[in-house]
Amino acid sequence: MKIGIPHAHKNARSGFQKEAVSGKFIGTPSFNFQRVRMKIREKSVPGYERVLLGSDDLAGYQGIIAVHSTALGPAVGGTRYWSYKTEDDAMTDALRLARGMTYKNALAGLPFGGGKSIILRDGKAPDREQLFRAHGRMVNSLAGKYITAEDVGTSPADMEYILQETTYVGGLQGRSGDPSPHTARGVFRAMQAAANHKWGSDELAGKTVAIQGCGHVGYFLAGELAAVGAKLIVADVDATKVKQVVDDHRAAAIASEEIYSAKADIFAPCALGGVLNDQTIPQLKATLVVGAANNQLLEPRHGDLLQQRGVLYAPDYAANAGGVINGCCREMLGWDVPKTLAKTDAIYDTLLRIFAMADQEKIPTYQAADRLAEERLRESTDV
Ligand SMILES: NC(=O)c1ccc[n+]([C@@H]2O[C@H](COP(=O)([O-])OP(=O)(O)OC[C@H]3O[C@@H](n4cnc5c(N)ncnc54)[C@H](O)[C@@H]3O)[C@@H](O)[C@H]2O)c1
Repeated sequence: MKIGIPHAHKNARSGFQKEAVSGKFIGTPSFNFQRVRMKIREKSVPGYERVLLGSDDLAGYQGIIAVHSTALGPAVGGTRYWSYKTEDDAMTDALRLARGMTYKNALAGLPFGGGKSIILRDGKAPDREQLFRAHGRMVNSLAGKYITAEDVGTSPADMEYILQETTYVGGLQGRSGDPSPHTARGVFRAMQAAANHKWGSDELAGKTVAIQGCGHVGYFLAGELAAVGAKLIVADVDATKVKQVVDDHRAAAIASEEIYSAKADIFAPCALGGVLNDQTIPQLKATLVVGAANNQLLEPRHGDLLQQRGVLYAPDYAANAGGVINGCCREMLGWDVPKTLAKTDAIYDTLLRIFAMADQEKIPTYQAADRLAEERLRESTDV
């Protein structure tokens, strides 16, 4: 399978040639001033292929790149621009997110591994071009082992700055576009699979879906559901976002804190992580939980609790892969729109497999999803 970054920029650079040495300073190529000021250290982390820490004082840059696995292909995962209490917190987040990307990409059937990067936000107003170009140089130092894209706190415009320094970047302006409608489509397909498993039919007409979060994904998900005749209850802390979904998709609004106990068949978390916990799970009236938010289970045991209560949970990283599928297939594999859409629609089959395995092995669905992803990773390394 051909993997390419079809948008090589004339100014993009070709990568550090120096070998990384665990725990040591590794990067001061001398032919370019901007690179001289970039300091890169490698940290050895068990279970991770590469972890780099970089700084460029002149650009006000401090960043981390974690490459969890390239067993299936180059590690793909976005750049998060975020403020953390400590550097350790940022590192923990980078490692967790990079591993999550390995599992998400494996389960989605993509020929990509998992990685993630973080630029630490320090409270000062940054020169965004300098900041993201510095990050681009860090990305480039991995010579294609890691490909970045947008994530929380970053935009397609920031990716254009990264492109000045490396070709290993996706999510650019005018390329595969906003991932949210594709994520919403995948969540919708996951919902159909869950409905089929629970009620014996994909039909969502007449079912009531409670959507938490009317942002990018929530809005498009409401559109998909309204189109097939589902009834919608929606909540958001931002009243203007609620109004838009109510006006455009005939939804009923509810207070944010009432969304868990809403009289609905399906609960769709599309706002925050950690929303499935000891406080919220007992309130749920819905028998399916299918949404876009990352890390919906506060702790793994909450997946067990849902199972004990007879609630079918669609593991988040399986259901919300539509955006990454669209970005990878369109930008890196050069697929056309119909082929890419078919891949997103196949989230339906993945979810059916997860549910079947969970039943067969008598395990919660989040464990079945992990097992399926691990099977794919193992197959790739078996000779
Ligand atoms: N955008 C994508 O393609 C994509 C892909 C995969 C996963 N996700 C995940 O899906 C979720 C939604 O993504 P998005 O792009 O729509 O984000 P978004 O920021 O556009 O929307 C989130 C919405 O949630 C609302 N919100 C925040 N706190 C809330 C609360 N307590 N109750 C109700 N609403 C609340 C916000 O006001 C906002 O409107 C996030 O967890 C994101 O990480 C998104």
